[in-house]
Amino acid sequence: MTGRTTRSAAIAVAFGLAVVTAYTQTRPGAEAKPLPGTPLRELAQAEGRRVGTAVQARALERDRAYGQLVAGQFSSVTPENEMKWDVVAPEQGTFEFGPADEIVGRAHDAGQVVRGHTLVWHSQTPGWLGPLDAEELRAAMLEHIARVAGHFRGRVATWDVVNEAITDRGRLRRSVFLQRLGPGYVAQAFRAAREADPDAKLFINDFGIEGINPKSDRLYALVRELKAQGAPVDGVGFQMHVNLKGVPADFAANLRRFVALGVEVAVTEADVALRQPASEGDLAAQARVFTDALRGCLEVAKCRSFTFWGFTDSRSWIPENQPGFGRATLLDSRLRPKPAYEAVQRALGP
Ligand code: G3I
Repeated sequence: MTGRTTRSAAIAVAFGLAVVTAYTQTRPGAEAKPLPGTPLRELAQAEGRRVGTAVQARALERDRAYGQLVAGQFSSVTPENEMKWDVVAPEQGTFEFGPADEIVGRAHDAGQVVRGHTLVWHSQTPGWLGPLDAEELRAAMLEHIARVAGHFRGRVATWDVVNEAITDRGRLRRSVFLQRLGPGYVAQAFRAAREADPDAKLFINDFGIEGINPKSDRLYALVRELKAQGAPVDGVGFQMHVNLKGVPADFAANLRRFVALGVEVAVTEADVALRQPASEGDLAAQARVFTDALRGCLEVAKCRSFTFWGFTDSRSWIPENQPGFGRATLLDSRLRPKPAYEAVQRALGP
């Protein structure tokens, strides 16, 4: 094709995609169409559990249907990005809590608890951390934890204090914190969080640890060490970012071995990524995977919280971060229930 024809074709495709995207997302002011059956939060409450979702402040403000479904379906929310270091402290010494406060305020109005996410993580750290030497970084980490956990004291029920500290091969991740502060940074972060908020439950959170494997073995050893040192670790978060390979058969047994260390466990970021375009069979298989994950948690008394990492395909992190994959959540991009939603209702139901 000639250059002009190619450009026109590209513009036409882009326009078409824009129209499809706009149509597939809900109109901002539209009311949410009620989902069939009993809301997930009511079913979970009957099981003595909380069911949650990651949420986005901008979507809560701008998309009425999104906000109604968050309040109606979930009893716990996790700010997807609004409490991360690069968002709350983009410049050293300044703290911006507006979007996170918006989420927390709405959660309390809806009778929900808030999972704070996350205080110390190797990703989404602000650029100003880079040049700090060891003592400056230690001071910055302790100040960050004190200011952020202190700001939300009494309003956040659980903190992911340290996120993704272990590599897939079962070693401590060589983050800037490990490299400059040594392995003691983990216990120090937990002690600082406890001092900032004596009542919040303090979790360590990771992905790829759902089964018994080198990564979960290393985390198990770390949690055992932390407990032996008297570090205030209350729980372990299992993110559950999976696909149609499914949930490891030893998931519940793995949860139980962590509980035996004297901690709670929780599923903190569940989604099931599908290779696109997904078939009806893929959607049915996805429903089975979500069911297996939820049943694994429900089998363990100390697994009291199950959080989805977003609940509508239109606002999932997957398409941007895992090219060729998507449709990873319970509702489609027009907030209509997928087989996974009804499967989760059945798994939670009496
Ligand atoms: O807010 C900026 C915006 O101002 C800018 O215009 C835009 C353009 O790049 O970027 C926006 O920030 C993005 C942010 O999400 C908010 O949308 C970041 O680029 C993007 O990297 C960030 O992605 C988040 C990702 O963590 C970062 O690693 C995803 O939304 C979030 O779902 C994902 O969540 C993580 C958990 O925190 C930890 N466990 C794994 C999980 C998936 O990676």
